[in-house]
Amino acid sequence: MSLAGTIRTTARRAQSALTPATYSQGDMDILTKLKKEHREVQLLLDKLVDSERAAERKSLLKQIKGALVPHSRAEEKVVYDALRALRDKEAKQDGEEGYLEHGLADRMLATLGKASAGTVEFAAAAKVLRELLNHHIREEESSIWSDVKDNFSDEQREQMNRDFEAAKKKVRVPQ
Ligand SMILES: [Fe+2]
Ligand SMILES: [Fe+2]
Repeated sequence: MSLAGTIRTTARRAQSALTPATYSQGDMDILTKLKKEHREVQLLLDKLVDSERAAERKSLLKQIKGALVPHSRAEEKVVYDALRALRDKEAKQDGEEGYLEHGLADRMLATLGKASAGTVEFAAAAKVLRELLNHHIREEESSIWSDVKDNFSDEQREQMNRDFEAAKKKVRVPQ
């Protein structure tokens, strides 16, 4: 791994260590759960971009899909749809924007799935996916999260986490 990659990885590990791990699954605020999953996917994306071995790249791509696809589908259902149902125009639009960005990430995952893992095309698509998702996560953790905090109580956000977990279980990850 490059020095920059190591620094990013260490910074993220330190950040996830600050996330309370003592919650029982159901009591967790949806935003705490989403943040934890974002950090996990970002770590995998850093590893994917740093990797130069085809077999390792394939295995990392599989792990990224396995984490990201259920996260995205459940987030759409539980978070974005809840925002789209509000009167608040800005919150509605943030929900729409989230859907569009997930669509772009899905397309990039499909491109990666078709590219041969040892090629520069794969390396390029991996970088684009990381840029796209880092941008998406940054926006989500600012705009979407303030919409959620403004519109839903602590109890509602814990319920959203339970719904999120249930929704994730129903998602089929495409090969
Ligand atoms: Fe997310
Ligand atoms: Fe998202």
